[in-house]
Amino acid sequence: MTTHESLAQIASEVSGCRGCALHKTRTNSVPGEGPENAEIMCIGEGPGFNEDQQGRPFVGQAGKFLGELLALAGLQREQVWIGNVVKCRPPNNRDPLPEELSACNLFLERQMAALAPKIIITLGRFSMGKFVPAAKISVVHGQMRKIGDRFVIPMFHPAAALHNPTYLPLIKADFARLPELLEVARKALDASAREELAKAAPSAPQLAEPKPLFEAQKDEAPKQMKLF
Ligand code: URA
Repeated sequence: MTTHESLAQIASEVSGCRGCALHKTRTNSVPGEGPENAEIMCIGEGPGFNEDQQGRPFVGQAGKFLGELLALAGLQREQVWIGNVVKCRPPNNRDPLPEELSACNLFLERQMAALAPKIIITLGRFSMGKFVPAAKISVVHGQMRKIGDRFVIPMFHPAAALHNPTYLPLIKADFARLPELLEVARKALDASAREELAKAAPSAPQLAEPKPLFEAQKDEAPKQMKLF
């Protein structure tokens, strides 16, 4: 299956999902969106009112701010893939429950596998909790770490930063460093891909010195040819 086909298949399963109670109150499911070759995947918490109405992630105020943050990194929203840990809106924007997170988890896993992004940016504590459950966002925000075969950068949630002015300069500085971190991730992943290739297809064995064709004759003086 191509990436396009995998993502379309997941989106169609999400729209019919009844894996937790959130399907009863949703207007639309929000599977996520973005280019299939995205190097960066942003994962938020869950759809809010506007996202539920439109079936698209981060289209409200937090989404507008996310666009501004990406611009600080020289990126447009259309260049990154954007999704959430839960695909249906928790009523009144409450925190997602553990059973809702686990009902949606496989969708996110499959999206990550299909996209194979170089960097995952977790937005907020629920998304961070999937990758680094014991971490404190106030300590680890903006720090990139390799988890399996991808890099993860925990960031504050844009909505939290809009509500708490002390987070604003921090989240802006974290996004501004993204180009530098992306370069580090690209180099590291290219190097490990080369290593994997070398392991899978070791270079051809060195050829032995060619033996003289006529071993016995090699030190003999050239024979005289008889001429008739
Ligand atoms: N907040 C989120 O975490 N996700 C959205 O899609 C919108 C707001």
